[in-house]
Amino acid sequence: SIGAAGDELGLNLYVVGGFVRDLLLQRTVDDIDIVVEGDGIAFARYVAEKLNCRVNTHKKFGTAVVIVSEQIKVDVASARLEYYDFPAALPIVEKSSIKRDLARRDFTINTLALSLNADTFGTLIDYFGATRDLKDKTIRTIHNLSFVEDPTRIFRAIKFANRFGFDIGKVTANLIRNAIKVDCFKNLSGLRVLSELKQIFSEEDPIPAIRSMTDYGLEKVIHPRLEITPATYQILESANKTLTWHDLLYVQETYPRWAVYFMVLLHRCTFKVSEQICDRLMIPVGERQLLLETRYKAENRLGFIESNHPVSRQKLYWALINFNTVFVLYMMALTKNEAVRRDISNFYTQFRHVTPKIRGKDLIRIGVTPGPAFTKILNEVRNAKLDGHLDTREKEMD
Ligand code: CTP
Repeated sequence: SIGAAGDELGLNLYVVGGFVRDLLLQRTVDDIDIVVEGDGIAFARYVAEKLNCRVNTHKKFGTAVVIVSEQIKVDVASARLEYYDFPAALPIVEKSSIKRDLARRDFTINTLALSLNADTFGTLIDYFGATRDLKDKTIRTIHNLSFVEDPTRIFRAIKFANRFGFDIGKVTANLIRNAIKVDCFKNLSGLRVLSELKQIFSEEDPIPAIRSMTDYGLEKVIHPRLEITPATYQILESANKTLTWHDLLYVQETYPRWAVYFMVLLHRCTFKVSEQICDRLMIPVGERQLLLETRYKAENRLGFIESNHPVSRQKLYWALINFNTVFVLYMMALTKNEAVRRDISNFYTQFRHVTPKIRGKDLIRIGVTPGPAFTKILNEVRNAKLDGHLDTREKEMD
């Protein structure tokens, strides 16, 4: 029906970019990006009215998002040139073709378009050799200034190469090296670097991407004293295993995967360097506290568990209960002691859920005055349960 809307308004419509790329790679597709040759906002409003759904528009960029449902959002962009003001003349808006729009994109593999109009429905448009590069498994830029124009594309090249198991083309790899040599990141905001890093660290296995980043010396862009050593890779591998273990058991649970990898990279840095990295990446206060203070607490807590091993379930419970998933997984990734790792995993899967069956009202019933004594009694009941006693409510009451 979106295609029909294009025909009704007499506009050419295309689905473009990642959607078409992923379709040809037979990967699951999520975002739908549409380019309209003409006024994309008017088109989006028309579609939203037809489908009776919401639409958000961004006039400045000529873009809109049609919110078809919670899961399906369609991004609509207008293929047109900038406004040119001529003295004493009306501003002229030139409508550019889809080709111009696609030519602005980062890599050939992202320049594919599929026509959505009825008479040409499904026609694949490939101006820049995208299908060839998908076949050759190669990441290639469209023009030589791509990385100078937008250095975040260096991270994107590595992300896509890693995700699809592609190589970065020879010329493109040289363009990356040159862009880094001329310090293209100097004026790039930390927020944009952080956003790219988060995306890379959220991929299923970011390790090859991290290797590739260090091959280009990109870790030095994050901080000149950031070293990614064989020991770091060992912990990264261990983080991979831990996260895979967790995600298989808790498919529904979402947590910031990227943070675990990021903390592993910070692990060997001094506190000062860690702080400077957070500054450089403009990490917001809340996250910064987690990546610095809470991470140190977790490392110390792990040290305590390792040096006192074997520790009782009770001790382990109280040592770990205040750390959320990210930090528990971080500790599991960090430890080289298999038994400690197993204990932490048991805590996570089993006894972090141990809680007394009796409640405050039960204590009131037997004459305890509400107050600090409550917590003390309930914690003692919890401790006894952790040690394997008190398997029924009656025993708890006793
Ligand atoms: N793009 C670009 N330069 C950037 C970021 C994006 O040229 N620095 C272009 C890409 O060509 C891409 C489009 O903008 O096709 C949309 O970007 P994004 O949504 O990040 O791309 P996807 O390919 O959908 O990425 P992902 O699969 O990771 O969602």
